[in-house]
Amino acid sequence: MQTRITKLFGIEHPIIQGGMHYVGFAELAAAVSNAGGLGIITGLTQKTPEDLAKEIAKCNDMTDKPFGVNLTFLPSFTAPPYPEYIDAIIQGGVKIVETAGRNPEKYLPLMKDAGIKVIHKCTSVRHSLKAESIGCDAVSVDGFECGGHPGEDDIPNMILLPRAAQELKVPFVASGGIGNAQQLVASLALGADGINMGTRFIATKEAPVHQNVKDAIIAASELDTALVMRPLRNTERVLMNKATEKVLEIEREKGSNTKIEDIVDLVGGVYPKVMTEGDMDAGVWSCGMVAGLIDDNPTCKELIDRIMTEAEDIIKGRLETLLAS
Ligand SMILES: Cc1cc2nc3c(=O)[nH]c(=O)nc-3n(C[C@H](O)[C@H](O)[C@H](O)COP(=O)(O)O)c2cc1C
Repeated sequence: MQTRITKLFGIEHPIIQGGMHYVGFAELAAAVSNAGGLGIITGLTQKTPEDLAKEIAKCNDMTDKPFGVNLTFLPSFTAPPYPEYIDAIIQGGVKIVETAGRNPEKYLPLMKDAGIKVIHKCTSVRHSLKAESIGCDAVSVDGFECGGHPGEDDIPNMILLPRAAQELKVPFVASGGIGNAQQLVASLALGADGINMGTRFIATKEAPVHQNVKDAIIAASELDTALVMRPLRNTERVLMNKATEKVLEIEREKGSNTKIEDIVDLVGGVYPKVMTEGDMDAGVWSCGMVAGLIDDNPTCKELIDRIMTEAEDIIKGRLETLLAS
């Protein structure tokens, strides 16, 4: 299947693995890229630009296919040394960057001058248009269903994607809540040029996270996520667990007076404990509603092949037969 996204990134299938903290290591990015999708290393999971350079080198050893790096621009007082991270990306020969969080405008010239294609992740049409206007090559449109940060507008993809299609000129992928072929075909029908998946790729053989994390996603239903940090306007969709219940309790009690200090132990710095050690109640961790559709732990190749084969069957089979009478 060829779309504007496969052409832009030189990939076989219109499937991207979104950057994920403590999940997007070289092992996963290379597996996705080797399967014909676009794998993405999570830049800031690497503690220093030197560490990122090593992770990129490792990924280069594991695949000859294109892969990308995610750079998340955080609202933080002590910003990471972004120019040095970008330098590691350039020196490593990476030609695709997924930006997320704050407006990446300040760093675009550095990347564009190095021939890097930038896909910016947005949770609204207005932010997508902004990304297009500052020169991003593509947009990842992240609906309310998504694992991680859905923004504050709460617009699900059934509305957000066709709205993006009405407004955007650059290619865009559907992100959030996606895990199977039906949803790929639906995304294409809604105007997207492909899909971006996060949660679905955690439950794969190559995702270098503790088996407990994969088991929790497989066991979860679509009812098992919750939104935390809404009072801080930094909403995050996470899996229900003891830490999530505690955060929600504090937020109910303190309402709009909730401060980050009230919950920081439950939301900050917990990923190594969850993802690496498999301590499932150590803190809140991002997970999408799509958990309700995930019930196996395939290899990335099995997953991507399955999605592409079934998508073709849906398009040539079910959809075409609807017209044939
Ligand atoms: C565990 C986890 C960690 C994530 N970490 C990041 C991150 O560091 N930066 C980022 O831009 N997006 C992050 N995301 C969001 C994903 O890249 C992707 O946009 C999202 O998962 C899509 O929704 P889905 O999970 O429903 O597929 C994370 C998502 C998950 C599930």
